[in-house]
Amino acid sequence: MRRALLPAAALAGALALTGCGSGSDSGSAEAEVSVSSSYMPQPVSADMAAGFLTITNKGGVKDELTSVTSDVAGQVTMHSTVGGAMEEQNSFAVPAHGQLVFKSGGNHLMFEKLKHKPAQGQKVTLKLTFAKSGPVTVEMPVKSATYNPSTGH
Ligand code: CU
Repeated sequence: MRRALLPAAALAGALALTGCGSGSDSGSAEAEVSVSSSYMPQPVSADMAAGFLTITNKGGVKDELTSVTSDVAGQVTMHSTVGGAMEEQNSFAVPAHGQLVFKSGGNHLMFEKLKHKPAQGQKVTLKLTFAKSGPVTVEMPVKSATYNPSTGH
């Protein structure tokens, strides 16, 4: 009889663990993206501009940035920078409990076929589309051409 009790206790313990695990995860079983630190350096060229931002995923599931559009540009493309050379990407992963960072010298957005040249002090509206979270609208401020986010100038 004693021997029979051991497996039963072990099984009960396993069930309790499973229940506890799924319960504590329920709040983050979805991707939860937000955008911060967005800016566009005032472009030097009349037909092309760059944009930078940080995407944070507080959820427990990874998401994917699949497209970017803006009313000021005919097309917005997403680029990575690998070994100093930029490469166009069709999508970027946003890891669970992680960040996707677009910054000067690294990943960046390129606004092509500009309808007008954005000037410092203006805002550019863009729409980011995520595979799981859907569309997110961002008001991206236009900063000086030499703006550095770490100094704020
Ligand atoms: Cu580029």
